[in-house]
Amino acid sequence: MSIQKKIVTAMAFATTTLVAMPASSAEPDDITHGKYLILTAGCNDCHTAGYAASGATIPEPEWLKGDSLGFRGPWGTTYAVNLREYMAGLSQEEWVNKARTLKARPPMPWWALNAMTEKDLKAIYTYVRALDTSDNKVPEFVPPDQEPPMPYVQWPMPQ
Ligand code: HEC
Repeated sequence: MSIQKKIVTAMAFATTTLVAMPASSAEPDDITHGKYLILTAGCNDCHTAGYAASGATIPEPEWLKGDSLGFRGPWGTTYAVNLREYMAGLSQEEWVNKARTLKARPPMPWWALNAMTEKDLKAIYTYVRALDTSDNKVPEFVPPDQEPPMPYVQWPMPQ
């Protein structure tokens, strides 16, 4: 076989191999990228109990299970949801559609999710779904005229 023919054969083999790769081969990348986004976008700060106060020392098996620390302000008292349970209730497509248009009460930075690319949102979904499921319950939203149970963070009233 000539050297040219060898190269062509090798290239054809490489192309076939790439095309034939199962979709699952993309998943480890999505998981890594999703974890990177969760870390850099600060989702753990609120969605992982004790995370910010501990200086980010809460181990990964405890991440994103929601928190019963309330955020109280003029909007009422909100609780960061259990994201493992939340994602388990949605298909990847439903999550992407939701996240693109999501609005939520403070202090959830919904604008960060609105601004993410589809690729990033899919990676977040893949990462969160790869974590063990958790049925940890966070308290229900408390309307502004009602006193929430402790503990909660009191936000100042706007001037
Ligand atoms: C500063 C605290 C904070 C940070 C940071 C934060 N969240 Fe939240 N998140 C909340 C709170 C509080 C709620 C509940 C809001 C409500 O009750 O309306 C919430 C709600 C949500 C919801 C449910 C929205 C709905 O109503 O369907 C999703 C999904 C979510 N957060 C994802 C994320 C992701 C992903 C990140 C990281 C990019 C993140 N959050 C960062 C506090 C936070």
